[in-house]
Amino acid sequence: MIEVRSLVKKIGAQEILRGVDLEVARGETLAIIGRSGGGKSVLLKHLIGLMKPDTGQIWVEGQNIIGMKERSLASIRQKVGILFQGSALFDSMTVAENIAFPLREAGERDPKLLRRRVTEILEVMELQGEEEKMPVNLSGGMKKRVGLARSIIRQPSCILYDEPTSGLDPIVSDSINRLIRRLQQRFGVTSIVVTHDMKNAFHVADRVAYLHEGRIYFHGTPDELRTSTDKLIQDFLLGRSEEQLTPKAFGVES
Ligand SMILES: Nc1ncnc2c1ncn2[C@@H]1O[C@H](COP(=O)(O)OP(=O)(O)OP(=O)(O)O)[C@@H](O)[C@H]1O
Ligand SMILES: [Mg+2]
Repeated sequence: MIEVRSLVKKIGAQEILRGVDLEVARGETLAIIGRSGGGKSVLLKHLIGLMKPDTGQIWVEGQNIIGMKERSLASIRQKVGILFQGSALFDSMTVAENIAFPLREAGERDPKLLRRRVTEILEVMELQGEEEKMPVNLSGGMKKRVGLARSIIRQPSCILYDEPTSGLDPIVSDSINRLIRRLQQRFGVTSIVVTHDMKNAFHVADRVAYLHEGRIYFHGTPDELRTSTDKLIQDFLLGRSEEQLTPKAFGVES
């Protein structure tokens, strides 16, 4: 479904991606984990053509999207939905308008149909009765669910989730994880889930890729990751840092 080859991206002097290789099979869920600032969000943005690499290739359903015209990219974005980190809702639109946006963009104008589709998806997201609210008046978890509703309303065959559960309480996180699984099982949706949350990664993923210093450092099943004896992986899983922030660094004697 998605194939990434030797993807390189520099931003300014910073080498963010240094040759990323990645494959995601149809119907599979891949979790991408890695340190904060490591380039996970940058990688996802490349997959729908929102960022252009310096070199490398990205194939989506057999089409190379590098150098694609905006019109062809639009058809890729119909197949591949994205939930942005922080949800990226339009502040000046209501919940219902935000969710209907991708359908309008695709040329759908029938108000009845739009309303029906929005109502259906609000139910799935347990957001009934919230359609007229503005994003500023939503809780973090609600924003995330609205963003998710918007990213799946066009029934994409592949969904990219950027931190779908960060900042949410365990119950809402669990319901989002179940939804990700359900979309995979019921509709065969291919998914990439970027997450900090290892429990989340183990729960939803068929395979896990660890992005480290601009490359995929590890790639395997959740079990292989868990039982890996690699020190870098172990440190990441256990949340161990190398540099110690001593009280001295804050001008305080320990
Ligand atoms: N548009 C941009 N302009 C300049 N620098 C950018 C831009 N987008 C990302 N970066 C830089 O690229 C690096 C990787 O950022 P990215 O957001 O992909 O990290 P991440 O792995 O998603 O981190 P987190 O887990 O905290 O979300 C960071 O140093 C960031 O500052
Ligand atoms: Mg990110």
